[in-house]
Amino acid sequence: MQNMATDIGLQPSRPKMIPVADPVADVQGCYEALVMAINRVLSSGQYILGKEVEAFEEEWARYLGAHYCVGVASGTDAVALALKAVGVQANDEVVTVSHTAVATVAAIESIGAIPVFVDIDPTSRCMDPCLLDTAISSRTRAIVPVHIYGQPADMEPILSVARRFDCSVIEDCAQAHGAEIAGKKVGTFGVAATFSFYPTKNLGAVGDAGAVVCSDPAVAARVRSFRQYGWRERYISDIAGTNSRLDELQAAILRVKLRHLDQRNQRRRTIAERYREALASTGLVAPSDIAGTVHAMHLFVVESAERDSLAEFLSNAGIATARHYPMPIHRQPAYSGRIRGAEQLPVTEALYRRLLTIPCHPDLTDDQIDRICDRLHAWSEPSVASNCSGHRSLQGASL
Ligand SMILES: Cc1ncc(COP(=O)(O)O)c(C=O)c1O
Repeated sequence: MQNMATDIGLQPSRPKMIPVADPVADVQGCYEALVMAINRVLSSGQYILGKEVEAFEEEWARYLGAHYCVGVASGTDAVALALKAVGVQANDEVVTVSHTAVATVAAIESIGAIPVFVDIDPTSRCMDPCLLDTAISSRTRAIVPVHIYGQPADMEPILSVARRFDCSVIEDCAQAHGAEIAGKKVGTFGVAATFSFYPTKNLGAVGDAGAVVCSDPAVAARVRSFRQYGWRERYISDIAGTNSRLDELQAAILRVKLRHLDQRNQRRRTIAERYREALASTGLVAPSDIAGTVHAMHLFVVESAERDSLAEFLSNAGIATARHYPMPIHRQPAYSGRIRGAEQLPVTEALYRRLLTIPCHPDLTDDQIDRICDRLHAWSEPSVASNCSGHRSLQGASL
């Protein structure tokens, strides 16, 4: 069946764009197993918090090397409930980055806590641990580093500052399923960690889904209680909770997809290697390959002094791109002018205008990868000859 755009003649005549993400191909790759899993749920008669959620929680915790996993309704809820579970209350400060999905900050504010921004490191594009001291105040209760694009944040120094100031670290792992630091999966460093299973994530459901992971049974018990009205037992609430349950269908789907996660992450990294080779002489800055870390390659994000021209150049060759993110949180209308730390984010400010996401999902065909490499290789950055910033990245950008 044709879609409406085709019917009314809107379909462009050039070849189909290579998409930045392809959740349909992801589903098609394991379609029969998914249908079996869905049928299993349909015939079980148990649609909320049943065997599938329990099994997925067990399997996801085991995959990560964590003790507990609690399935919730989304990655945003996961951040909010994890913060509450470690004791963050209204008016407590939570230090995080502005260079993230708005969800990280929305979750902090949803529980009445106050986000405070700290700048990012230009190489990892994640929270800069050296700047944490200046962001922390007597009201700070938690730090939320984000493993952005699948690159692990520098957890060791973040944890050390947190210990010094008696703060809890909650890792936002929404983009980093399977990423590692020194052989240990991200999600096992902080007191708790949060995951999103939004359909385009490395491990994606076919709707909204999320999880909190931790190794402290008391934290897990609190998230379990919060996610279902604060119930101690059916219909009796010990604490004020909410409804944020991972549903059986999504859990069953995630269990199927989890079996393929490592192999699909490896495919992402192989594609990224091809891109790095293609970029070598172009002056474009590839994501850093940081020793001791394994990147989940959720997104392959390059830095360019001519970001918009590069996007147009690739679009003309049938290659879609995206901006993650078009605007850091502190510049967005909902947040501008009211978040502490926003005036001291020179790296975030210099970087966001230069970043462009290139398709790097595991369902790209070899032909598509060749086409992308060919076009990347053909690009030449105007500022290649004038790198004097001292940073490997942010070439020519004013800090
Ligand atoms: C870094 C980060 N945190 C949190 C979230 C929120 O996840 P969800 O969309 O499942 O609520 C996302 C999702 O895009 C994200 O990228």
